[in-house]
Amino acid sequence: MPVKVVVGAQWGDEGKGKITDILAEQADVVVRYQGGSNAGHTVVLGDEEYKLHLIPSGILHPDCLCVMADGTLIDPLVLAEEVQGLQSRGCSCDNRRISCNAHVIMPYHIRLDELQEQARGRGSIGTTKRGVGPAYTDKSQRMPVPVRAHDLLDADVLRQRISAQLAVKNKIIQSLYGAEPMDAEAVFQQVWPAAQVTAKYVTDTRAIILQKLADNAYIVLEGAQGTYLDLDYGTYPYVTSSHPVAGGACLGTGVGPSAIDEVFMVVKAYTTRVGGGVFPTEDSGALGEHLRQRGREFGTTTGRPRRCGWLDGVALRTAARVNGATAVAVTKLDVLDDLETIPVCVAYQLGTERVDMMPTWPEDIEQCKPIYEHLPGWQRPIGDCRAVSDLPPQARAYLDKIAQLADAPVTLVSVGPSREQTVFYP
Ligand code: IMP
Repeated sequence: MPVKVVVGAQWGDEGKGKITDILAEQADVVVRYQGGSNAGHTVVLGDEEYKLHLIPSGILHPDCLCVMADGTLIDPLVLAEEVQGLQSRGCSCDNRRISCNAHVIMPYHIRLDELQEQARGRGSIGTTKRGVGPAYTDKSQRMPVPVRAHDLLDADVLRQRISAQLAVKNKIIQSLYGAEPMDAEAVFQQVWPAAQVTAKYVTDTRAIILQKLADNAYIVLEGAQGTYLDLDYGTYPYVTSSHPVAGGACLGTGVGPSAIDEVFMVVKAYTTRVGGGVFPTEDSGALGEHLRQRGREFGTTTGRPRRCGWLDGVALRTAARVNGATAVAVTKLDVLDDLETIPVCVAYQLGTERVDMMPTWPEDIEQCKPIYEHLPGWQRPIGDCRAVSDLPPQARAYLDKIAQLADAPVTLVSVGPSREQTVFYP
């Protein structure tokens, strides 16, 4: 059975949640490999919309095991709320497992994220303020030992870890930011009820995943965010603090590279970005606004309006190689229904040079001017299409262009938010 990675090709919000949910129908296990509650994955089931931040997008399939692996960050308060919301809608969430090694986002990480962003002023990254950067910083700093999911099993250990952390962090909060210190016991009391709910599901997930591999199970490794938010391969420093690229799936789960059969790269039919940083194909005019409204491009986690623009073939070509994409899923194609022509960036102009691959230095990307091809639009609704032959020829030509740019076949196309609004290539 296959091991598949689901990875975002752009700056996140590509619609990975829907794609993972579809794959989970047949999968035995879905494993989230990085990120924390900064993610916002939307799954639509009938008239119901589910917004997931931490729980893998396979959770609506009761037979699918959902694992939050070593590379993820767990916020027990967000997780408890998310589980409660799902349970109130009839989803037990008993099929979830949390790695004992996953680091825990604590209230002081969120406080530091807010204070850091405030202090950056106009140069802020535009983080989700979910504490992700400070929690991953603690993970690499190692001392004092941060809270990991295993520590949620024992009140004394948790208290001791919080005290040790705040002994250092309060100095930073007070002297660097001039803010009020946090009380260790109050933080413990705030987290402990949710910690107890989370603790029941904490286990050695690496052992589970390796056993599933040995059993030849169908495993989906689900990424959060996207290629250009990767700490190493994204548009640094306007990136997240983890590794959304396909290689991150190995680091975050313990699955070796040779075990991966397919890298399923999710590409939104146009481009969006939240937060600061370069965005060569951004359209700040009326058409960008049209994409925002039609595509409901407002952050799942923060509600912020997303910046919108056109498909960036340079970014796509580069992402396909960085991730080793073997297949492509195209999402939100229906959002382009009304357009007479659709711009697709096929290269950049950088000074006198024509550039086909994304420069690594963000200052160079800032200088790049997109070179567009204008493809004819189809100007009719495609939300009811269920087979490739139902799609208008102009839509098929647009998909062919994406496949050509990615140098990988398009095997799935999403034409609306629900599970049914999906076209599979034979
Ligand atoms: P952080 O991950 O909250 O530290 O934010 C760092 C950058 O990543 C900011 O530009 C965020 O807007 C962006 N970001 C983080 N998570 C997501 C996501 O799930 N979708 C889109 N952008 C994200």
